[in-house]
Amino acid sequence: MQRLKAQTTVLVGVTGGIGAYKACELVRTLTRRGFRVKVVMTEAATRFVAPLTFRTLTREPVATSLWADEPGDPVHHISLAQEADVVVVAPCTANVLAKLAHGRADDLLTTTVLATEAPVVLAPAMNVHMWRKTITQHNLDLLRARGFVIVEPGSGELACGEVGEGRLAEVADIADAVEAEASRVQDLAGARVLVTAGPTYEPIDAVRFIGNRSSGKTGFAIAEEAARRGADVTLVSGPTALLDPFGTRVVRVESALQMREAALAASVEADVVVAAAAVSDVRPAERSEAKLKKDDLPVAIALERNPDILAEIGAMNDGSKVIVGFAAETGDPVAEARRKLEAKRCDLVVGNDVSGHLGFGTDANRVWFVTREGAEELPVLSKREIARALLDRIAAMLRERRGT
Ligand code: CTP
Repeated sequence: MQRLKAQTTVLVGVTGGIGAYKACELVRTLTRRGFRVKVVMTEAATRFVAPLTFRTLTREPVATSLWADEPGDPVHHISLAQEADVVVVAPCTANVLAKLAHGRADDLLTTTVLATEAPVVLAPAMNVHMWRKTITQHNLDLLRARGFVIVEPGSGELACGEVGEGRLAEVADIADAVEAEASRVQDLAGARVLVTAGPTYEPIDAVRFIGNRSSGKTGFAIAEEAARRGADVTLVSGPTALLDPFGTRVVRVESALQMREAALAASVEADVVVAAAAVSDVRPAERSEAKLKKDDLPVAIALERNPDILAEIGAMNDGSKVIVGFAAETGDPVAEARRKLEAKRCDLVVGNDVSGHLGFGTDANRVWFVTREGAEELPVLSKREIARALLDRIAAMLRERRGT
């Protein structure tokens, strides 16, 4: 007899916001897409939608309390946490968002989320001013850095009568995010990946430096995505305002020389090297340990060339590593990427055009993937989407190299 594949279980957490009624549609959509759906509601959510509605839609019991007497199950939050392949909280109020960001567990839903090892998708919904508050945005940053997937709210007329961001995202988008988590491929499992990211700061004296505008976002997105796909990731980063990406080992450095030392050490064992850092090509020839007084500042600063980290790693490659470089250009990105591909012995160079409004510090970018076989132009994508597309290519190259 053919064994049926076990159905993927999605645990939908519903919290007390007006968007709770849309959770009914989410549950229906997920059921239609073939998931087994179970619902946990907070006490506040039951004021908006009756548990019976979800019970009818899912044909499963709806849990609302840590203290309810489930037959045969004295620790319900743990069994729910283990049963779930993906957890999604939609709508997620500012209050529950804050609790999750700080690891509080004072009801069935927050306890279950804290106890689960499944990926968690959050779809926040709240008043525009609550959404924009620094504290809410800070909580979101914490949650992202800890591996939660955030489906951002949409903009428009809110239930409170105001207009702005805060409306629960479209049900189809939330369902897509759940599906992406449920089907996340582990195609980099076992691969050791080194990523360099961010700018480097080249000291002039105790407080001044030569730097550049790199935010580190691309490298951080690549590191995080690679970790989610099962890779063992070391991220060597110059100074950035970004939090450590979930599931990665982060080495924070300042100067190009420090980055070189950390990157060369990590590269020995690496199967994949992605050099996304904007390494300063030069450094001041002299560095004052003290802060220079303005009268002592030189009119010209003598510069020395920094070593090319990527070229050094490329030169040492015996063909076993997949090496990816970046080329941020204001000229012809494809021609320059080709030149760097050869000069630095890379397998792929991501060329991008930083002459316009895209590139450094922005969230979106237009890039070309340049290999010896040719150049592929990608549409304008978010840095996370670029990271995903790049890792698809890297995973394919690794498979080819390993003959699998
Ligand atoms: N890179 C590096 N070490 C350096 C300079 C660059 O590892 N000292 C890496 C970057 O991380 C990137 C690639 O090399 O992956 C290309 O960086 P870019 O600054 O565009 O290259 P340069 O060789 O400095 O080229 P250009 O002549 O255009 O300045």
